Amino acid sequence: MRRTRAEILSARRVGAYHSLTLVAPEVAERARPGQFVAVQMPEDRDYLLPRHFSIHQASRRGGWAGTLEFCFEPGGKGTTWLANARAHGFLDVTGPLGKGFAYPKRLTNCLLVAEGHGAASLYFLAQELLVREKRVDMVLGAGTMERVFKPIEGKRLSQTNAIMTEDGTLGDRGTVLDALPEMAARCGSEVIYAAGPAPMLEKVAAFCRERRIPAQVVVEERMACGVGLCHSCVVPVARKDGSGYDNLRACVDGPVFNPARVLWDRWMSDVPTMIPTPPEGLPVVRSWPG
Ligand SMILES: Cc1cc2nc3c(=O)[nH]c(=O)nc-3n(C[C@H](O)[C@H](O)[C@H](O)COP(=O)(O)OP(=O)(O)OC[C@H]3O[C@@H](n4cnc5c(N)ncnc54)[C@H](O)[C@@H]3O)c2cc1C
Ligand code: FES
Repeated sequence: MRRTRAEILSARRVGAYHSLTLVAPEVAERARPGQFVAVQMPEDRDYLLPRHFSIHQASRRGGWAGTLEFCFEPGGKGTTWLANARAHGFLDVTGPLGKGFAYPKRLTNCLLVAEGHGAASLYFLAQELLVREKRVDMVLGAGTMERVFKPIEGKRLSQTNAIMTEDGTLGDRGTVLDALPEMAARCGSEVIYAAGPAPMLEKVAAFCRERRIPAQVVVEERMACGVGLCHSCVVPVARKDGSGYDNLRACVDGPVFNPARVLWDRWMSDVPTMIPTPPEGLPVVRSWPG
């Protein structure tokens, strides 16, 4: 992990999203799909915490070597400030952070399912899977056409591609969950990777569990330090031996998790994660000292 002051090589619009490409060779060289960066905000009480974004691209070779790209939709204060960033400005960036996706050794057919900006990390993954001679298929979705992230790029990277919008302005009307069963059957999917909002990931997890398809998902939990110190980002994850669960830190133990082991109800409920209460029959295991 490196902290660096990175020059902005380009700032552009991609549908509803903004994309920033930074010159950050030390981060780009180490980056893997599924990892993320922390972008420092102005020194001002209004911002306080860095903002975290999935690495969308990291070029290690070719003309763009040493660059990395992340994408976001302006919403709150931090992303609105970032949307005003321009080429040749500078950002303080720390990364790559977290654990990335694992690649399947023997299984070949990979289905990538993403809603909204979740697709940002999955395109980087798709490239790495293709290098490993895996088959890549994709289901992409969003509320509206502008929020489908780089649909042409998705088509280019995948053998079979389904696009879903809730208002029907691009592809078929519906959500990625509507397309998932048919795509998984048609593509003979053996592994599923997903990124998007937690309720969608929970449903993908249920689908994979039912059909016994191994899966990995990227979760977005609110983060403060981003490096494992503050425990503000914990996700309850069942232990392999079934003896209970641990509150794992999304910033260092994730953000990629096996969805079959995430305790989705517990994670998405309003129970404060710093003071966990066990589901019936399960002991609380704190993953931080004391
Ligand atoms: C591992 C990871 C990867 C992410 N990848 C992307 C990405 O590629 N593109 C993208 O658009 N967004 C991504 N997010 C979400 C992004 O971090 C938030 O959209 C962003 O922090 C919102 O900041 P804000 O100042 O605009 O919002 P505000 O609401 O003003 O933020 C207030 C605080 O809440 C936190 N926060 C608000 N929304 C979220 C959220 N959804 N997830 C986590 N923290 C949040 C902020 O970091 C900040 O500390 C990612 C989050 C994580 C944890
Ligand atoms: S954000 Fe501080 S431990 Fe994860």
